[in-house]
Amino acid sequence: MPLHESIHYRDGTLCCDDVPLDAIADAVGTPVYVYSAARIRANAARLQAAFAPLGAAVHYSLKANANLAIIRLLAALGLGMDAVSAGEIHRALRAGVAAERIVFAGVGKTPAELAYALEAGVGWINVESQAELHLLDRLAAQRGARPRVALRLNPGVSARTHHHIATGHAGAKFGIATSTVAAILAQRGATPHVRIEGLHVHIGSQLGSVDETLTAVREAQTLAEPYPDLRTLNIGGGFPVAYQDGDEYPPPEAFAEALRPYLAGWQVKLEPGRSIVADAGLLLVSVLYVKHQGGSRFVIVDGSMTELIRPALYSAQHPIAPLRAAPATESAIVAGPVCESADILHRDAMLPALSAGDRLAILVAGAYGMSMASNYNQRVRPPEVLVEGASWRVVRRRETWDDLLRLEEPDTERGASRPVSDV
Ligand code: LLP
Repeated sequence: MPLHESIHYRDGTLCCDDVPLDAIADAVGTPVYVYSAARIRANAARLQAAFAPLGAAVHYSLKANANLAIIRLLAALGLGMDAVSAGEIHRALRAGVAAERIVFAGVGKTPAELAYALEAGVGWINVESQAELHLLDRLAAQRGARPRVALRLNPGVSARTHHHIATGHAGAKFGIATSTVAAILAQRGATPHVRIEGLHVHIGSQLGSVDETLTAVREAQTLAEPYPDLRTLNIGGGFPVAYQDGDEYPPPEAFAEALRPYLAGWQVKLEPGRSIVADAGLLLVSVLYVKHQGGSRFVIVDGSMTELIRPALYSAQHPIAPLRAAPATESAIVAGPVCESADILHRDAMLPALSAGDRLAILVAGAYGMSMASNYNQRVRPPEVLVEGASWRVVRRRETWDDLLRLEEPDTERGASRPVSDV
């Protein structure tokens, strides 16, 4: 069980920092996401420290978890933001992040999104195709702007990770092939309204080794070499986290050390998401029913693939911890209520005897949990709670049924339906 100083048992009760998780569940119900502010800060500080010798600027990847409270917490530590849509830019601006500190990436930015980014004055635009570059050049000319651009290189390397989250191989939709980047750089005069001052290489998420990143960085440097004003290198995110005890992944320090000999004289940028928030968060659920069938113990809980889709989408294994420490007796299939066979949160969780009302924490769920949550089956998305030492607060309330109706029936009176907990 990957527990740590912020998610730990105290007197047999699972706590987030100094708050027993039962207290949160009693007050706001389940399912609920809970995040440790201390752990988020510690993870960010660790990355900043690891890459400090490289003078790197860290831009938190909002797609991992874009709760306003988390954005504000990280911005206060000096992090910039990595956005992949105008919606994320808007959210970061709303959280008080300076536009200059935002980098904007994405393989399919719409003209409206690019215009929005230009008008907001975002710091960097990571361009992913020649056509996008020309469009951006036109939009910039119309606005009298001259944005800084990093070309996203597709270096043709296969990252060691799940195929859904590898991005740097030749068959991927991401980035621009080496020969095309070289051609664009050779004719920079063709797009006079953009300043191409950087290259970007994000080769995947949950990276299993540093080698491919190093290869990609070296490839980018070779391309940039003839152009002395092109000395910013954004190496993306992808720093892995341990989902299981005994998971062996290179720590951020290993990436920094491997890259350091090559990056003197370069402005370095990072876009970590998962490594900052994943192990700071958990999804708290309650057991609804236990049944034995087909030779398995099924533990049906009130959380599902609509709150946490990673097990269904990537066969991800999130460890599950009971709120009350007890010896594990038997394997269980932990399943949610959604009408999909894929709605299994864990296929083989070693858990104690459980009955209705018992609570479980699905761990390492702070990244790509709430940000990928849906309303499938008309389920309301859960609240999010941020723990600060011994206190905690709701940083996003639970949705209501009326929240779900309002876009179709704008007159739906807010709060007219009963909260789910009263049903
Ligand atoms: N930069 C770019 C250009 C990216 O595409 C990503 C992630 C990141 C940074 C942040 O990567 P991280 O540090 O979080 O690994 N939903 C999947 C992960 C998708 C990652 C997409 N891009 C999951 O749940 O595993």
